Amino acid sequence: MILEVKNIDYAYKTKKSKKVLNQVSTQFEEGKFYTIVGASGAGKTTLLSLLAGLDTPMCGSILYNGEDIQKRGLNYHRKHNVSIVFQNYNLIDYLTTEENVKLGGSKSPQKLLSEVNIPHEAWTRNILQLSGGQQQRVAIARALASDAKVLLADEPTGNLDENTADEIIELLWHTAHKLAKCVIVVTHSKKIADIADEVIQIKDGFIERNSQIHN
Ligand SMILES: Nc1ncnc2c1ncn2[C@@H]1O[C@H](COP(=O)(O)OP(=O)(O)O)[C@@H](O)[C@H]1O
Ligand SMILES: [Mg+2]
Repeated sequence: MILEVKNIDYAYKTKKSKKVLNQVSTQFEEGKFYTIVGASGAGKTTLLSLLAGLDTPMCGSILYNGEDIQKRGLNYHRKHNVSIVFQNYNLIDYLTTEENVKLGGSKSPQKLLSEVNIPHEAWTRNILQLSGGQQQRVAIARALASDAKVLLADEPTGNLDENTADEIIELLWHTAHKLAKCVIVVTHSKKIADIADEVIQIKDGFIERNSQIHN
C-alpha cells in the first residue's frame, strides 16, 4: 500500500460550513487505476488536494509508505511522492513542450514525449501551439518526469472531445498498469469510472468503495 487515508475530517473555514469529509478512510496501491466519483460539490477535489499535500485535514492522517506525510513535510511530499494533472493542463505558456516536461523532474523529456506520442516536431514548439489533447499528454509527461509513485488527476478530460478524452484515459490506464504507478483520477465520466480497478464514491462526506473485475 502506497497511500493510506486514516479517519480524516475536513471542512472549509467559512461560517456554517459543514464537513466535506467525515471520518474518511481508504487505501491506494501501486499499479492500480482508481477513480473518485460523486456529485458536483461532493468533495472530490478536496480529497485530491489532501492526498496531494496541498492542504491538511482537520483531524486524521495521510500516510505515504506508512509514514505521515506531515512528518517529512508537505513540501517534500509534493516534490517527491505525488504528481498532479489538472483539467486545464497548468502548463507554462511561455515555454516549449520540452521545457514544460523538464519542470516535472530529471527524466529525459525526449523519452517521455515519445512515450506519450507527441510528434518530434512539436517538442521545441511553444506549448500553446499544441492541441488540447496534446497539451494534456505533455502534462502527463511532466507528471512522469519525476519518480513520484502517485499520479493524481482532477477531471483530466473535462476540456476534451470524446475521442481525445479516450486517448488520455488510455494513457492514464497505461501509466497505472504498465508503469506501475498509483493513478487516482477524479472524474464525471462513466467511461473512466468503468475501466477503473476501484471506484471511490463520495456522498455526504462519506465514501463507498467498489472493486471492479475486468476480463
Ligand atoms: N475554497 C473553498 N472555500 C469554501 N468552500 C469550498 C472551497 N472549495 C470547495 N468548497 C466547498 O466544499 C465542497 C466540496 O467541494 P469540492 O471538493 O470542490 O467538490 P467537487 O470537486 O466534488 O465538485 C463544496 O460544497 C464546495 O462548495
Ligand atoms: Mg472538483
